[in-house]
Order: sequence, then structure tokens, then C-alpha cells
Amino acid sequence: MILFESICGRVSCFLALLVVLIAAALQILENSESIDVSSMDLKTLDETYRGKNKSCFILGASGESGKALLKEIVERKLFSRITLIGRRQLTFEDKAFENVAQEVVDFEKLDDYAAAFQGHDVGYCCLGTTKAKAGTEGFIRVDHDYVLKSAELAKAGGCSHFNLESSKGADKTSGFLYLKVKGQVEADIEQLDFERYSIYRPAVLLVDRQESRAAEWMARKFLGAFSSAFPTAMSIPITSVARAMLANTVIQGEKKVEILENKAMYDLGKLGVK
Ligand SMILES: NC(=O)c1ccc[n+]([C@@H]2O[C@H](COP(=O)([O-])OP(=O)(O)OC[C@H]3O[C@@H](n4cnc5c(N)ncnc54)[C@H](OP(=O)(O)O)[C@@H]3O)[C@@H](O)[C@H]2O)c1
Repeated sequence: MILFESICGRVSCFLALLVVLIAAALQILENSESIDVSSMDLKTLDETYRGKNKSCFILGASGESGKALLKEIVERKLFSRITLIGRRQLTFEDKAFENVAQEVVDFEKLDDYAAAFQGHDVGYCCLGTTKAKAGTEGFIRVDHDYVLKSAELAKAGGCSHFNLESSKGADKTSGFLYLKVKGQVEADIEQLDFERYSIYRPAVLLVDRQESRAAEWMARKFLGAFSSAFPTAMSIPITSVARAMLANTVIQGEKKVEILENKAMYDLGKLGVK
């Protein structure tokens, strides 16, 4: 028994050390692509952007990322028109949301809802499910097919800047279904040739999710201990994701296609936060 406990103790120590080393390595690797935001003033950027009278749509506004993004957009009054495109009508008690338009669509027949996508300058896609929830086919259907079709309709409807929330590690050649599908949809949307296409690759989202997801919950508990020492290695707060997407929007970068990894998002998310 004593021998067993001693082995377990050593294995735990080894695993903890391994995670620290991986986190440290990831942190060092990601440091190479950080964005210098020290000279940027978010208020001025917001004001300039507001003056352009742009409109946007959000896909997935009922989800955790989408909710955080919508809240930030409404608070900062960045767009003259906001449309939520989703499979169900959402209710908001806060008066600040009363001018937010909603289009309820059937994602299986998206072509019938092309009008919902028309006339938006900017599109944000925070759509997604999990294999555990939807099965393999269902996951591919949502995270690839629905996302790509939405992007096609957005492009046809005049959207010039498409923002995709993808995932850390997205890679169309990956052996992991999740990362492969994320990488494939990133690549397929690139073929649509948007004037500007921004891909965000967050790590595990730190959020008190309403829906219970055991694997994510465990990952967050586990990562919690490391996130203070290596804040950008394996996770990111959901508010940082939303702020990063919007900071990147108002900065109005020149790159046609850009990929923002977790560290870059974390840095951008800090912009304007006192
Ligand atoms: N969770 C993480 O740690 C993590 C990490 C990296 C990247 N990501 C990626 O980031 C994105 C957003 O993640 P999240 O955790 O914020 O998402 P989430 O909370 O699960 O929300 C997903 C959104 O997609 C919609 N959706 C799901 N299945 C659908 C279907 N069959 N038809 C139509 N709409 C559907 C949901 O609508 P309903 O509310 O109607 O269900 C909801 O608006 C996803 O692409 C995810 O893969 C997540």
C-alpha cells in the first residue's frame, strides 16, 4: 500500500512537471508572435471605427464566445447595425440590446436565408459544437459545413471582413478530427477571397459555462493552477477572446489573411483594459 501511494505520488509529480514544461515551451514559442499594442489607444480606434458606420452580423451569439462578443459590441457601440443569425430567437432584458436585429434561420437550408446575410460589412463566426454533443457527422456539419456556407452567403451579401473563431492547433492535416475540421474550414474560407479574413485560434476558453461539459470543466480546473504562471500557454479568458476580436477589427490591419494565435489574442484583449 505504501509502495502504491509512493508510486502514485511520483507519477503525479512527474505529470505536473510535464505540464509545467509543456506550458513553458508553448509560452516561449508563442512569445515570438506577440503584437505590440503599447502605442495603441483603444478609445481613439473605437471612435474612428464608429465613424465608418459599419454593420455586422454574429453567428453563434447564444454561445459563450458570441455572448461575450455581443456584449462588448453593444457596450462600445461600434456598429450602426447588428444582426444575430442563429437557429433560435434570443431574449434580452437589457434595453441596450433592443436595437439588435435577429434572423432565425434553418442551417440545413441556409440558401433559403441568403437575405439574412446581405448588407453586412463585417461578420463574426463563433458557431460550433462538439463531437460529444453532435457525433462525428454532426460536428463536421456544424463546424465545417454550416460555417463555410455562412461565409459563402456573407461574401455574396457584401461582407468585406470575415472573422472566424477557430481553435489553437487547427490544422487540416491533423490526425485529430477536431483540429482537422477547424483547419479545413479555415482553409476553405480563405478560398472565398474576402477583402479581409481574420482567424482567431484561442486555447481552452476560461468561462463559467452554463451548459456542463465535463472534459472542459476538468481541463479548466487543471489549467487554473498553471494559468497564473503561464497565462497564455493553454487557456484564455472568454472576455479576452471577445476584446481581441474587436480590437483587431478596429485596428483595421492591412493583412488580407491573418491568424491570431492565443498569445496575440491575449495581448490584444488587454488593450484598453485599465
Ligand atoms: N470551448 C473551448 O474551450 C474552445 C476552445 C477553442 C476554440 N473553441 C471554438 O470557439 C467557437 C465558440 O466556442 P464556444 O465554446 O463559445 O461555443 P458554444 O458556447 O458552444 O456556442 C456555440 C454556438 O453555436 C451554435 N450551434 C451549435 N450547434 C448548432 C447547430 N446544430 N445549429 C445551429 N447552431 C448551432 C449554438 O447555438 P445554440 O445556443 O442554439 O445551441 C451557439 O450559439 C467554437 O467554434 C469552438 O470550437 C472553443
